[in-house]
Amino acid sequence: MNTSYRTHTCGELRPSHIGQTVTLCGWVQKDRDLGYILFLDLRDRYGITQVSIKSDEQAELYEKVAKFGREFVISVTGKVVERESKNNKIPTGHIEIRPDEITVLNPAKLPPFLIEDETDGGEELRMEYRYLDIRRPKVARSLMIRAKMMQAVREYLTGQEFLEVETPYLIKSTPEGARDFVVPSRLHHGTFYALPQSPQILKQLLMVAGVDRYFQIVKCFRDEDFRGDRQPEFTQVDCEMSFVSQDDVLSTFEGMTKHVFRQVAGVELPDFQRMTYKHAIETYGSDKPDLRFDAKFVELNEQMKGTDFGVFNNVIDGNGLIVGIVAKGCASYSRKQTDKLIKWVKDPQIGGTGLVFVKYNEDGTVKSSVDKFYDEAHLRRIGEHAGAEPGDLLLIVADKLKGKARKVLGQLRLHMARQEGWIDESKWSVFWVVDFPLFEEDEETGSLTFAHHPFCMPRPEDLEYLYSDDPNDRKRVTAQSYDMVMNGNEIVSGSIRVHDRKVQDKIFEILGLTDEDKEAKFGFMLRAFEYGAPPHGGCAFGFDRWAMLLAGEKTIRDVIPFPKTAGGRDLMMDAPAGVPLDALGELGIQLLEE
Ligand code: AMO
Repeated sequence: MNTSYRTHTCGELRPSHIGQTVTLCGWVQKDRDLGYILFLDLRDRYGITQVSIKSDEQAELYEKVAKFGREFVISVTGKVVERESKNNKIPTGHIEIRPDEITVLNPAKLPPFLIEDETDGGEELRMEYRYLDIRRPKVARSLMIRAKMMQAVREYLTGQEFLEVETPYLIKSTPEGARDFVVPSRLHHGTFYALPQSPQILKQLLMVAGVDRYFQIVKCFRDEDFRGDRQPEFTQVDCEMSFVSQDDVLSTFEGMTKHVFRQVAGVELPDFQRMTYKHAIETYGSDKPDLRFDAKFVELNEQMKGTDFGVFNNVIDGNGLIVGIVAKGCASYSRKQTDKLIKWVKDPQIGGTGLVFVKYNEDGTVKSSVDKFYDEAHLRRIGEHAGAEPGDLLLIVADKLKGKARKVLGQLRLHMARQEGWIDESKWSVFWVVDFPLFEEDEETGSLTFAHHPFCMPRPEDLEYLYSDDPNDRKRVTAQSYDMVMNGNEIVSGSIRVHDRKVQDKIFEILGLTDEDKEAKFGFMLRAFEYGAPPHGGCAFGFDRWAMLLAGEKTIRDVIPFPKTAGGRDLMMDAPAGVPLDALGELGIQLLEE
């Protein structure tokens, strides 16, 4: 770190440096003037070093430094000495600098918020001044974790003969289920490039090209509604391999994940469980369950039969689903608390129609919200079936649409875990979900769409359903596709791909693409498949989500250097912004009046 400005960084000095004369550069974090001695914390990306000046020994320097404002950029030359009162919380806490000379390299305006881990700046203000936000050690640390992860990813993949190849950003639409961001062409009025939602098609073409093992740490663009785990532009570690089975892909990327955890967090992950999609949905109501806590689903159609309770009887008769979870130790919930849960379930965002609860009290009594219909003996039998013990609360939802009942209870399971502190934050839950369906049915409209993307290879034993004349058989096709789930987040998604043009054609046909659509959208790809496409498969890691988890953050905005707000704006640059009319004219674009 020795440059013409400095000899060391602010995070580097230790007791072994005592007695040396050093020069440090950095930002003034804060100073504490005790009248006879002034302490100044000097900060850079690497840490904080204390500088101390005694007023009786260095009156002139003391006066000068007392006038410094926060975030002045300074250089300090002086001797490293042992601190009188040591700070064991920071690595440089046993030493300090007695300066001979301090130079102001650049004064600074007072920043709009505190540049410390515990800041007083709200998110919008911090995004507007993101360059100041990144100075905060917590944010800088996240960026360093991110960089270390990238390094570990490259190390692992290049060690396994993966070739890092860049694919273009100005392309034609690649379907991943979101809207495209489009870029108008100046030279060809009325036509647009699409920014890639992922390099999916290009990486498959690289396999046709014989690249054999490809990876890229790449930006993807999706014009979709934003959430804490979604950004309009985000980073993937995108990978593809030729001549591989699903097992080969899973073990390669399980290896990579373990390597990155080891290198970046010093964590040894155990071998990953492989759970089928069906099991995940039926047991946890989610294809990305958080397994750091239990609360498995219990199906209750049989147990709920035999009373006059119309709501449940209708669901049973309509071939719907009644399903519950046991909330350990929650029988003591008050009326207010259960009412709040019912309200939560009925929120349109959650989509539930109601919530039934049964309290198995510590004193052996049983109380429920359906006492009118179920006697105590019946409720006890239900409790036994569900594994409820004295002190537990059984929460039950029902819906004529099985998928909806599971989805609602899956969300409730997570809500309860957060509310009740069931999640052990020191644990890691990392595993594969496999055997996704090829097509997903909209339970309400009955229409089919692809579950992952249209390039996933069906399992060989399910190919017959793809070609069956009975449209219902399509729903039986399982794809060779998989996700990696980390602490309840989908981090990786991938599949073995279709490399046979005929199968790809059939999938497009089922998705409702006409021959013209196929040609216009994917003609180049289908043609490539006629020139010797090898069997291939791969996956993509959502790098920001993974970095968020390794950095212990709650949203991906915290680990992206210059993120967009939840409303999709860059507050620092003020983007998106208008374009001068003549520039639009050059593009052949005219704006409609609002
Ligand atoms: P998929 O669309 O599932 O698959 O994306 C792969 C992973 O990228 C992450 N991700 C996102 N992260 C932040 N913001 C977003 N808007 C966003 N969207 C997705 C998720 C997800 O698991 N081409 C396929 C991969 C393949 O089949 O090889 C693809 O892009 O963590």
